Amino acid sequence: MKTYLPDIDISDLVHALASQDWTVVEEKIHSQQYERLGLDRAFAIASDLLMRHQSLTGLRILDVGCNSGLVAKVLSALGCVVVGIDNSDVDSQGLYSELESQHQFAGFEFHSKDLAEFFDSDERHWDCILLLSVTHHWETGYAMSGKRRYSDEDIRHLLAELFRRARLSIYYECPSGEPGFAVGFGVNFLLRYCSELPKTRSLGNTVGPNGYLREFWALDME
Ligand SMILES: C[S@@+](CC[C@H](N)C(=O)[O-])C[C@H]1O[C@@H](n2cnc3c(N)ncnc32)[C@H](O)[C@@H]1O
Repeated sequence: MKTYLPDIDISDLVHALASQDWTVVEEKIHSQQYERLGLDRAFAIASDLLMRHQSLTGLRILDVGCNSGLVAKVLSALGCVVVGIDNSDVDSQGLYSELESQHQFAGFEFHSKDLAEFFDSDERHWDCILLLSVTHHWETGYAMSGKRRYSDEDIRHLLAELFRRARLSIYYECPSGEPGFAVGFGVNFLLRYCSELPKTRSLGNTVGPNGYLREFWALDME
């Protein structure tokens, strides 16, 4: 079984959004062998942005750890200008193989890079930054491997840089109350590295790829 997000072709999504005929997407979801779908989070982010800013068109979004790109593709299809980056820590599953060639028609710019490396070479600011089930790997290593890419000081610096470069919000999904992650882990993670947090606004719960509930937050910059 593959993990994480299924590959839904962007044209299927655009067709479904435009026609409200979800048959093809539903067929793919039913035949998928993946542990979870990410559309709920993409639509939660889109609805939140729409309610607050009336339009999604042209909003500049950085999806950190975009994985197979589903959330990036959906937000692109809805009018946002999305850049997705991923350091390929789970590349053994072959999730990224199509992305480099897909991004021209998938509507988003993909960089196979680690966040620290990306920030060193890219100065852009963003309306929103997505940190969906990503930051806990920075302490535990991918899949609790213990192989950390970052020191505590690196994490402190990266979070400060993420807050500096986000204009509206950071959408932050994190484990909490599951093996390895105490209740309140997500906010405590931020407090370990930041002396001051942006305004935290709960967007409720999502279901992680392992079936446990995750916390979903908006960190508002304005
Ligand atoms: C658990 S997956 C979550 C994927 C996606 N954001 C989602 O929520 O469905 C974490 C992803 O983040 C990537 N990742 C973790 N740390 C990263 C970093 N510092 N820079 C870029 N990608 C990173 C991993 O390769 C993996 O694809």
